[in-house]
Amino acid sequence: MKTLVVYDSAHGNTQMVAQAIGDVILGEVNVRRVGEVTSGDLKSVDLLIIGSPTHGGRPTAAIQGFVESLPGPVSTVRVAAFDTRMPHAWVKLFGFAAIRIARALEGKGWSVEQPVEGFFVNGRGGPLKDGELQRAAAWGRSIAEQRT
Ligand SMILES: Cc1cc2nc3c(=O)[nH]c(=O)nc-3n(C[C@H](O)[C@H](O)[C@H](O)COP(=O)(O)O)c2cc1C
Repeated sequence: MKTLVVYDSAHGNTQMVAQAIGDVILGEVNVRRVGEVTSGDLKSVDLLIIGSPTHGGRPTAAIQGFVESLPGPVSTVRVAAFDTRMPHAWVKLFGFAAIRIARALEGKGWSVEQPVEGFFVNGRGGPLKDGELQRAAAWGRSIAEQRT
């Protein structure tokens, strides 16, 4: 199985989550910052995982652009989405990046692996809350093991 984890990250927290996810998935795994994804990374990929920090309830512009650049669904490719976010109740008013990534993918006809997940940071610059890298690893493993 070939997996590509594409992420954006302003302060490094989403990068750490992306790497934790990539580290537990078997087979060929590439973890790439958005903008550094090559056509070779995308070629023959079986599982594409997209992650972004939540900025104003949305993914970063770079991740939005990456999702927009994707073609419609490919039967051999599965897609999944995650974000990093703050735990405060008020941020729920704005929504979360992973849900928007999933909606954008679904708008293109993709069906997105469930659950879409968010991982918590203590503040805008982090750090990640205790246990979140372990939770990310468990999520990545479960997504990779799902079969449609
Ligand atoms: C401009 C800006 C807007 C943000 N908006 C939200 C938000 O709407 N909801 C939320 O949960 N976190 C928000 N955050 C906090 C981010 O979730 C946090 O910075 C991010 O998870 C850290 O990931 P990174 O280290 O990969 O950049 C915002 C952060 C910035 C810088």
